[in-house]
Amino acid sequence: MIPIKDKIGIAKMRAACAVAASVLHELKQLVRPGVTTYDLDQAARDLIARHGARSACHGYQLHSRRYPAFSCISVNEEVVHGIGSLKRVLRDGDIVTLDVVVEYQGYIGDNAFTVPLLPIAARVADLLRVTQEALVAGIAAATVGNRIGDISQAVQRHVEGHGFSVVRDMVGHGVGLAMHEEPQIPNFVDKKRHRTEEIRPGMTLAIEPMVNLGGHKTKTLADGWTCVTADGTPSAHFEHTVLTTERGPEILTLPPTGA
Ligand code: MF3
Ligand code: CO
Repeated sequence: MIPIKDKIGIAKMRAACAVAASVLHELKQLVRPGVTTYDLDQAARDLIARHGARSACHGYQLHSRRYPAFSCISVNEEVVHGIGSLKRVLRDGDIVTLDVVVEYQGYIGDNAFTVPLLPIAARVADLLRVTQEALVAGIAAATVGNRIGDISQAVQRHVEGHGFSVVRDMVGHGVGLAMHEEPQIPNFVDKKRHRTEEIRPGMTLAIEPMVNLGGHKTKTLADGWTCVTADGTPSAHFEHTVLTTERGPEILTLPPTGA
């Protein structure tokens, strides 16, 4: 069953998502050539603390491993879960995915954005644009009465229509009291999932297309976390936490107003 948030839960999700969005916005401003991904992760730690929140990534446990960093910073062929490193110095032409997940007063907000260090190759610029458009299409499909699979289909159509591929090894997800709640939200129509659940009001969903310039396959590096494209091509990732309502989907992780 997909958790439905009540009035108080929704108010708390709004607050947690506002913090996640502010931190992501502030972190974006720090992405420039010469900065290391370690510097960015330390900045994420400080920004999250300044908002009175906690990183939901730090210490996150998966198969007996604990995630060591405060945010996920994934460069170029890194798809997700990149760990900030003093050895990774950013330079012109890089694309840098910042993924910020915070816990604030018991609730979790999740969002991600891929920042280009201009100039970037034209095909890579297309990749970023199409991935962001796919996120918009996925969100637009998150209407009451639709099914979760309609989100998947909208994302996949847009991405594949432009000749890129969606990552299959990682999926979007419900989010709230835990970072990963039901449902799973693949970015492709999964033939194994026959009838996905119907969307009802009060669901909070992390919709997050991860899109590769080349093939969809990924592999995990020896650090046990960093997920990279198998063919070494660049990958982009945009994510919002969205509330479903009778009036349509509402993005809870919009950047601060005036930003
Ligand atoms: N946004 C990512 C997700 O939904 C964040 C993962 S945090 C980590 O899975 F701890 F796994 F790195
Ligand atoms: Co997520």
